[in-house]
Amino acid sequence: MSNISAIILAAGSGTRMKSSKAKVVHKVCGKPMINWVYSQAEKICTDKIITVVGNRREQVISTLGEDKEYAVQRQQLGTGHAAAVALEKIPDGGVVIVLCGDAPLITEETLKAAADFHIKSRCAATVITADIDDPKGYGRILRSESGSVLGIVEEKDASPAQRKIKEINSGSYCFDTALLRAVISNLSNENAAGEYYLTDTLAILLENGYEVGAFKIPDINELMGINNMVQLSQAERVMRKRINEAHMLSGVTIIDPENTYIGADVKIGADTTVLPGSIIGEGCVIGSGCIIGPNANLKDCEIGDGSEINASTVVSSKVGKNVAMGPYAYVRPNCVIADKVKVGDFVEVKNSTVGEGTKIAHLTYVGDSDVGSGVNFGCGTVTVNYDSKKKHRTTIKDGAFIGCNTNLVAPVTVGEGAYTAAGSTITEDVPGDALAIARSRQTVKEKWRTKKYGE
Ligand code: UD1
Ligand code: CA
Repeated sequence: MSNISAIILAAGSGTRMKSSKAKVVHKVCGKPMINWVYSQAEKICTDKIITVVGNRREQVISTLGEDKEYAVQRQQLGTGHAAAVALEKIPDGGVVIVLCGDAPLITEETLKAAADFHIKSRCAATVITADIDDPKGYGRILRSESGSVLGIVEEKDASPAQRKIKEINSGSYCFDTALLRAVISNLSNENAAGEYYLTDTLAILLENGYEVGAFKIPDINELMGINNMVQLSQAERVMRKRINEAHMLSGVTIIDPENTYIGADVKIGADTTVLPGSIIGEGCVIGSGCIIGPNANLKDCEIGDGSEINASTVVSSKVGKNVAMGPYAYVRPNCVIADKVKVGDFVEVKNSTVGEGTKIAHLTYVGDSDVGSGVNFGCGTVTVNYDSKKKHRTTIKDGAFIGCNTNLVAPVTVGEGAYTAAGSTITEDVPGDALAIARSRQTVKEKWRTKKYGE
C-alpha cells in the first residue's frame, strides 16, 4: 500500500464571502469548513497532512489548531502555486491527495475509493469529477472522443462550447507525489486569471507521456465548493441531512429533519425523539429515551436518559436522568442538575447544583446556589446573589420548602427540612427543621371602604 499524504488548499482570500472571517473558518453544522476537510483527510492519510494558509492565516491556524502542520503561501498566485508551496513539506514517494479547504462535503468513502482507483490504475493524476446541471464557476473536464481525459479548462478560459460541458472538476485530486513535484514548476500563469492553476498539471503530465484519469462520482453534493454565503447555506442543508439521517439510522426519531439542527459531533441515544425547531449544538451528548423540543436550544451540554427538554435553552451544563424541563426554562453555564429534577416554566438556573428530585416548578431564579435533594421551590423564588459588587452563594439543604415569592439574600443557608413562609425576604440563615417568616403581619381594617366612601 502506498503512503498517502494530503495537501489542503486554504490560502485564498474568499472575497466572494464578503465577510471579515477567513472563508474556511465559516461553519457548516457547527464545524468549520477547514476542520471538516481536515478530518476527512485524516481518515485516509497514512502520512503528512499539510494545510496551505495565507490570507487571514491566524484565523485558520487557530481554528484548525496550532498542532497541525502548515505551509504559508505569502502571495495567492493560484492553486498550482499553493500546492507547490506545500509539496516542499510532503515526503517523497506514494500518493498525495489535494483537497480544497472550501469543499467540506467530500466524504471519506469517496476519497478512499478515488485513492484506490488511482493506485490501481497507475495514473500519474486522478481528478474527482461529477456531472452537474449547472456547472457555472467550476473547471470543466476536457475529454477526447474516446473518453480519455485531456485536461481541465477553467470557466474564465473556456470557449462557449467548453462552457457547455457538464462534467466538472471537484478540486480534489490524487497525484503521484514524485510526478506532481516534477511538473509543478512548469506551470504558467498565462491565463484569464493570471494565476498558476493546479488544474494545468494534468495536461502537462499528459504531454510528458503519463496517464491521467478521472474518478466520476454520482453524488454531486459532495463536490460543492463554497464561494459565497448562498452556497454556504446550501452546504449546511446537505450536511444537516447527512447528520440527521445518521442519527435516524441509529434509532433517533426526528419528526421534521428539515427543521432540526444537530451539530457535527453530537451524540444522541436510541429512542430519543427530537421535535421540530430544535438546535442541538456542538458538544452535546443526549441520552436515550429523551424528548428534546420542540424548540430546544442546547449547547455543550449533557442530558441524561429519559429527560424532557421542552422549548428550553441549556448551555454548558449537565442534566441528569428523567428531568422534566420547560417550557421556557433557561439553564446557563456551569449547572449540574441531578436526576428527576423539575425545572419548569420561566425558571432560570445559573452556576448551581440542584439535587435529586428537587422541584423548581415556575417563575424562579436560582443563581450561584447549592440546592439539595427533594427541595420544593414555590413560585417566584429569587436567589438574590448580587450585591452590585460581588456574587454570593445560596445553600438550600435537602428537603427544604421555599415558600412562594421568597427572596433568599445571599450569602444565606436554609437548613435541612426548613420552611420559609411565602413572601419572605430571608437575610439570615434558617436552621434545619425551622420555619422562617420574614414579612410584616397582615392588618385588616374592617369596613374600610364604607367608612372612607360611604354606603
Ligand atoms: C478551483 C479549480 C476549479 C474547480 C473548483 C472546485 C483551479 C484553478 N480551479 O476553482 O477547476 O472546479 O476549484 O471548487 O484550481 N487557494 C490557495 N491559494 C491560491 C488560490 C486558491 O490556497 O493562491 C485555495 C483557496 O483557499 C480554496 C482553493 O484553493 O480553498 C480553491 O480556490 P478557489 O479560488 O476557490 O478556486 P475556484 O475558482 O473555486
Ligand atoms: Ca472554490
